[in-house]
Amino acid sequence: MGYRFKLIGYPIKHSLSPWIHEQFLKKSKLKGIYSIFEISPEKSLEESVQHLKREETDGFNVTVPYKQAIIPFLDEIDDTARNMGAVNTVVKKNNRWIGYNTDGMGYLRSLENKYPEFVQNKNIRILLIGAGGAARAIYFALNHSGFTAIDIANRTPGSAREISELASNSCKSNILSLGEAEKCIDQYDLIIQTTSVGMKPHVNEAILSLDRLTSDTIVSDIVYQPLQTKFLQQAQNRGAMLHYGHTMLLYQAQYAFEIWTDRQLSINDLDVKLKAVLEGR
Ligand code: ATR
Repeated sequence: MGYRFKLIGYPIKHSLSPWIHEQFLKKSKLKGIYSIFEISPEKSLEESVQHLKREETDGFNVTVPYKQAIIPFLDEIDDTARNMGAVNTVVKKNNRWIGYNTDGMGYLRSLENKYPEFVQNKNIRILLIGAGGAARAIYFALNHSGFTAIDIANRTPGSAREISELASNSCKSNILSLGEAEKCIDQYDLIIQTTSVGMKPHVNEAILSLDRLTSDTIVSDIVYQPLQTKFLQQAQNRGAMLHYGHTMLLYQAQYAFEIWTDRQLSINDLDVKLKAVLEGR
């Protein structure tokens, strides 16, 4: 029969997850299907989830707007998802539905894969820009893996402060305004842009100027539509090292697939394939 995976969310007709997981199924030579299960906001989430559970689903991904709302319908959630207050992957194990959050680990794996030597040094100075769900997941993963200096810049300082409260005692975090971050951008080794600023169709926008950036910095943007955001373009102009957003998408899916099937796949070749899919859109 094979595995049956799904994606729930709204709207999800253009999601890349079915394409990614089909590649994983092919690579692993496991039988299965990954389909979308769109739940429009006027429907009852509870009834939709009950329907999903009856359909013998082995696991499902959860995206906007249900990452928090799904939690009451699960039997268990792992520590990371609990800290995030958000679930993006659910697996059925011994008839129990267990929620995980693979976003932070996905980012970390993508970074380790691209810059393996760089991430060995846990004392690098990191600037996280934004304080939404993605920033929270990335902050937690970086902190958990031992990085000790992660500052957060956001338009609303209160949300950044809330995230910094997730930090263990060994991590030091300053909260900055976007203007302050711009002025001291040369102090960071790794800069991670997590807001939606610069996403299609607003491709001419960038959250801040990188005029003071030095070339020994890695600059990440988790936006992947377009692949080359204005923010990354500025970084490239300054001679910095780039880290593209679509790789986080691939690695968070890799970890979800691992939770469902116990298989960790090598997915380096999919980077180029996914780029081609995105460029064709
Ligand atoms: P996600 O869950 O995908 O991370 P989110 O929770 O909506 O998305 O978070 C959006 C982030 O982008 C926030 O940090 C938000 O800043 P505020 O906390 O001040 O709202 C930031 N953001 C979105 N649009 C922005 C804009 N035009 N200028 C500055 N920051 C913006």
